[in-house]
Amino acid sequence: MDNHDLAEAWAYHDGTKHSVESVHRSTHRLEWAIMPRSFKVYPDLEPIPLLRDFTSSTRPALAAIGDPGNAPGDGPRLDRAAIARLLYFSAGVLRRKTYAGGEIYFRAAACTGALYHVDLYLISGPLADLEAGVYHFGPHDFALRRLRAGDHRAAVVAAAAGEPAIAAAPVIVAGTSTFWRNAWKYQARTYRHCFWDDGTLLANLLAVAAAVDLPARVVLGFVDDELNRLLDLDTEREVTLSLVSLGRGAPSPPPAPPAPPLGLATLPLSTREVAYPAIRRAHATSSLTTAKKVAAWRGSLAAPVFAPPGGPTVRLAPSVTTAEPLETVILRRGSTRAFAREPISLAALSTILRASTRGVPGDWTARPDLYLIVNAVEGLDPGAWVLDREGERLALLRAGDFRREAGHLGLGQALPAEAAACVFWLVDLKPVLERYGNRGYRAAQLEAAIEGGKSYLAAYALRVGATGLTFFDDDVTSFFSPHAAGKSVMFLMAFGHPERRR
Ligand SMILES: Cc1cc2nc3c(=O)[nH]c(=O)nc-3n(C[C@H](O)[C@H](O)[C@H](O)COP(=O)(O)O)c2cc1C
Repeated sequence: MDNHDLAEAWAYHDGTKHSVESVHRSTHRLEWAIMPRSFKVYPDLEPIPLLRDFTSSTRPALAAIGDPGNAPGDGPRLDRAAIARLLYFSAGVLRRKTYAGGEIYFRAAACTGALYHVDLYLISGPLADLEAGVYHFGPHDFALRRLRAGDHRAAVVAAAAGEPAIAAAPVIVAGTSTFWRNAWKYQARTYRHCFWDDGTLLANLLAVAAAVDLPARVVLGFVDDELNRLLDLDTEREVTLSLVSLGRGAPSPPPAPPAPPLGLATLPLSTREVAYPAIRRAHATSSLTTAKKVAAWRGSLAAPVFAPPGGPTVRLAPSVTTAEPLETVILRRGSTRAFAREPISLAALSTILRASTRGVPGDWTARPDLYLIVNAVEGLDPGAWVLDREGERLALLRAGDFRREAGHLGLGQALPAEAAACVFWLVDLKPVLERYGNRGYRAAQLEAAIEGGKSYLAAYALRVGATGLTFFDDDVTSFFSPHAAGKSVMFLMAFGHPERRR
């Protein structure tokens, strides 16, 4: 089990690709009798209620969404109200919908299948109105539950090999996935969804922090076992995916108190669970085992050089501004279920692309390439395009009406065929895995998903609709080749005006 045995990441990635044939071959049926609960509930721990009387931020939403995360200063003081706002607008339940089989609790960020397998934990120093501790956030009753008393941040700093943002943070947020809550529907492909769904959530969290100039940084370099032990996770079923530092300027935390196993009861998710060994293997083989390895892991990768395809190019024209605050945009967001075949403007598309690609504050870089199918964008020929990130231009790969192809690539769904534009995040995994080992796979998926999550929010800031989509992996690469040859699809979004009549 070694992070640098790259055959493992490739085996997982290749083994979980969708193709026409794999979908056709699949005999998987949803077993409604064992549909998992979408919340982790500790029945024996006292809830510490959080209040919902938030004051809205004043920074325009688009500025917060596009913020690359290098704000100076320590940010506003963190207290329970500030924590409540951050948690509500990134992982809170915003809407409930009743259907024949029960109720869906829709959350602030999009999630594959609305299955919400990602949980948030806080590792906090002492705040004005919250004692130091390790807390679990329960979106079901909007409350924290304290798993451990005392200031455990030093354990996280050690696990993250002294990462400076973590070391200076008054509060650290850990994101985990309980695989079964998503694998019930998506089987082994869930390991990709871990980072997709953590990514959309983190896009919200970063934006909600940026809206009040609170520094936040995503950290993927940490000793997995140490975090999982601190959070007392049953690692056969739940693992830590990411850390986010919140705030800056905290004095060095004191030595961490002991953190023995807790064995806390949680409500069963379903009467039976199915394990998917490919998920656990992908996680184990991308785990870091010592702080020394973490320190060597961390760092940036040279940005890939953009190869101009040689055809016409169009400069991005991100001219749209809005004064609306981020919170209103998040409350309005909800995946578009049908698109009208109406165009969006080049200004809107440019604004979405710009807000999504200004950089993810993190301890790695995978720098995905964005490929587009333009169906109906005023000022842009329909066709296949690629984004030159540095040059802020779109370059035409092939002109043509590709609605039918877009529908096929998005797993044969109507949404991408009817959308005004589809954006595919692709990564050349080879150099990423060579630099970061198998953990580069986590990093590439997460970075694309955070950018995808930003694009969701930017679209709704502009009152354009959006939805995440899944895809036929190799068909997407072939469609954008030769430019995309060798690259792997990480994430797909479709944008357009929602169909109002249906
Ligand atoms: C990465 C990702 C992939 C998704 N794939 C699909 C898809 O293939 N088809 C679809 O109809 N919805 C898809 N969705 C939308 C989810 O079903 C939706 O986010 C979820 O039901 C929650 O609803 P909300 O986004 O309106 O809050 C996807 C969402 C994400 C984040």
